[in-house]
Amino acid sequence: MKIRYLGHSCLLIESGERSVIIDPFLSGNSNAHVSARDVRVDAVLITHGHMDHIGDSIEIAKRNSCKIVVIDELGKHLAKMDADVQIHPLSIGGAYQFDWGKVKLTQAFHGISVELGDELGYSMPTGILLTMNEKTLYHAGDTGLFGDMKLIGDINKIDFAALPIGGNFTMDIEDSIIAAKMLNAKKYMPIHYNTFDIIQQDDQEWYRNMSENNLPAVILESGQSISI
Ligand code: NI
Ligand code: MN
Repeated sequence: MKIRYLGHSCLLIESGERSVIIDPFLSGNSNAHVSARDVRVDAVLITHGHMDHIGDSIEIAKRNSCKIVVIDELGKHLAKMDADVQIHPLSIGGAYQFDWGKVKLTQAFHGISVELGDELGYSMPTGILLTMNEKTLYHAGDTGLFGDMKLIGDINKIDFAALPIGGNFTMDIEDSIIAAKMLNAKKYMPIHYNTFDIIQQDDQEWYRNMSENNLPAVILESGQSISI
């Protein structure tokens, strides 16, 4: 599994010949370095309804003739925005095996607004467990710390976890370290920081804290990738 960071919370994941993108906030993110029209994927996954996560999802899914895999209520909002978009709805705790991999949605504790169109909609935020060719990635989405990360770590063999560290809207450095201890993943990377002034964070401090706790960590600059 190859994980490429495209800034903010966006990960492009490749395994074999297949690839998926999570939270493709590319247009309007000066740190993305990749244009939405250059993305080739088999599916688009979205953690929740905020614009810094929905981003270019509809455009990417339509151009690739692929599905958006997302919690049911957010999927309905997306379909209302564009009738041509193909949605695969899931709910929290539910999983589905696609021909390119398996997706299970986890809980996340965060805002419920759906930032699409003029009307404010609502939908639960989620985290994502993505398994492709026996490797499992956990994308925590936007969330505060919660104790059932321990359960998620106990019942899943997580090879790689992406955790928000920006604070203000999500976990900060301190809480992400506690989360990492519970998740028991083989490696961690920080996401959802430094994109906006309000979520500035020192990733070197995060890295030092992780190392002091013997938690294997990697910091990816936007555009960089890691193979696991
Ligand atoms: Ni959010
Ligand atoms: Mn966010």
